[in-house]
Amino acid sequence: MLGIIGGTGLTQLANLEITHRQVARTPYGEPSGALIFGLICGQEVVFLARHGYGHTIPPHEVNYRANLWALKDHGVDRVVSVATVGGIHPDLIPGTLAIPDQIIDYTHGRSATYAFGNDKPVFHLDFTTPYCEAMRAALLQAAAGAGISLRDGGVYGAVQGPRLETAAEINRIERDGADMVGMTGMPEAYLARELSLCYAAVGVVVNHAAGRGSSADGIQMGEIQAVLGEVMLQVRRLLEQLVINDAAGLCTF
Ligand code: HPA
Repeated sequence: MLGIIGGTGLTQLANLEITHRQVARTPYGEPSGALIFGLICGQEVVFLARHGYGHTIPPHEVNYRANLWALKDHGVDRVVSVATVGGIHPDLIPGTLAIPDQIIDYTHGRSATYAFGNDKPVFHLDFTTPYCEAMRAALLQAAAGAGISLRDGGVYGAVQGPRLETAAEINRIERDGADMVGMTGMPEAYLARELSLCYAAVGVVVNHAAGRGSSADGIQMGEIQAVLGEVMLQVRRLLEQLVINDAAGLCTF
């Protein structure tokens, strides 16, 4: 089953016919909220709002381990994560959607593995390709089907937040090779790998990163809100098309 993790601006899915809600418990504590099961075009999916349904959980306090564990425990084998980002690459202007293919992790102090305790053998998991290529391909195919333009690829710089960056930090992150910057991409992507979930992200560019373009003199929250409203309509269409393709057996997960 497909799991959808919604970020800022996507705390519910208008096109989801809700069938039931399930409060989940995990060995890692409680997820951000109840799992919402429903149908999109007759196909069962489960939705979880990363920051809680009232958008009250900041990025560094999200229980990423519980969220992914709960999804897997309830039959999810593939995950689309929707996350807002600031655009660093000149192509990534506000309102753009991007499917990143790489990550640089700048976060710290987050519970970033299920491997705790010395009763299990040490393991080191390959993370060369951090996103599931089959899910990335399915998203690109869905975008083509729905007539939505998407940027294929890009490096996601995962920062700690909750504050936004300084202009100098964005310059440094760009020199490192990042194209976009967001606060929730890690450890989510890695934990999905530990659980063998096929995971990919949709980066929703809601602002120019600090010091760039319209954010040259600061990031305007009002501008972010305006972009979010518009672009999330496209994200909803994209997810709907993804599920339609899935139902028609077009996606090979
Ligand atoms: N920086 C970090 N995270 C973000 C940004 C940003 O500019 N925009 C949306 N999430």
